[in-house]
Amino acid sequence: MTDQLRFDGLVAVVTGGGGGLGRAHALELGRRGAHVVVNDMGVELAGDGSDVGRAATVAKEIEAAGGSAAPDTNSVATAEGGAAIVETAIREFGRIDVVVNNAGILRDRTFVKTSPDDVGPVLDVHLAGAFNVTRPAWAHFREQGFGRVVMTSSSAGFFGNFGQASYASAKLGLVGLIKVMAIEGAKYDIKANAIGPVARTRMTEKFDNPLADVLGVERVSPAVAFLSHPSCALSGEVLSVGGGRVARVFVGVTRGYLGGELTAEDIRDNLETIFDDEGYQVPGDSKAEMRLLAEMLGR
Ligand code: NAI
Repeated sequence: MTDQLRFDGLVAVVTGGGGGLGRAHALELGRRGAHVVVNDMGVELAGDGSDVGRAATVAKEIEAAGGSAAPDTNSVATAEGGAAIVETAIREFGRIDVVVNNAGILRDRTFVKTSPDDVGPVLDVHLAGAFNVTRPAWAHFREQGFGRVVMTSSSAGFFGNFGQASYASAKLGLVGLIKVMAIEGAKYDIKANAIGPVARTRMTEKFDNPLADVLGVERVSPAVAFLSHPSCALSGEVLSVGGGRVARVFVGVTRGYLGGELTAEDIRDNLETIFDDEGYQVPGDSKAEMRLLAEMLGR
């Protein structure tokens, strides 16, 4: 197939690539010709313990299928760990082109029961983890005038989910991050996008999902391959992916109500207009939203 999305000569880091979704992404990119750094500390679901063998096992699987891979067992949760992961890519393969931020842990608690001991590690792995790995890669991306970043967000962040206060906060934080990366990376051909996956893994097995039979991890990885490819023109976008369906998730703004000397009562009395989503817009950046106000003001 000549129009297949290939990654020959390109180097991809997949964090949390030792199991679940990350393993599927790593195998998919490896099959398509990328050199893959399979990063995974091999922790338990809550982030405890470590099994350094998992990354090596997936790297071997990629090689057994005719691909090229190197394992890495550093933690994404510290700046030193992030730098070391990027260093593995440079040392083993001489460059870095793609970062798939996928590593994750789960410490589900309702908001009222969430303790600082749970918030910190969840934000560190999911949100700070994306900074820790992508920042050192960004320097290479700028220099070579190319880079692709894929974040792993979640419907818990987009839409909410009972018992996932810190997780949802971290996951939606990643959406803010790609919005800024898309703007700042544009002139260097750096594209940053996010997926909200739905898949049957150890993370979701406790939910008794009637759709589990169609939620294989391999139905999410094609979106990661698409968003990682040099031909991908999207940036700052979010795709919901699972069970064979792909859909755009976006933040939009209604036309709204223009109240001049606005009062609290004006808002109370005009909720219908404020919430009317006819003609809503999806601004490309915060200046674009400001232009919507300027238009309404006739300026
Ligand atoms: P998983 O638990 O199988 O995979 C997560 C991997 O990240 C594990 O292999 C773990 O060892 C690794 N990891 C954790 N902390 C790490 C650290 N500090 N450094 C390096 N590696 C670390 O779970 P799953 O489902 O494959 O999750 C992958 C990503 O997808 C996560 O970010 C998760 O939050 C996200 N996600 C998954 C959904 C699903 O339906 N499975 C839904 C929405 C988001």
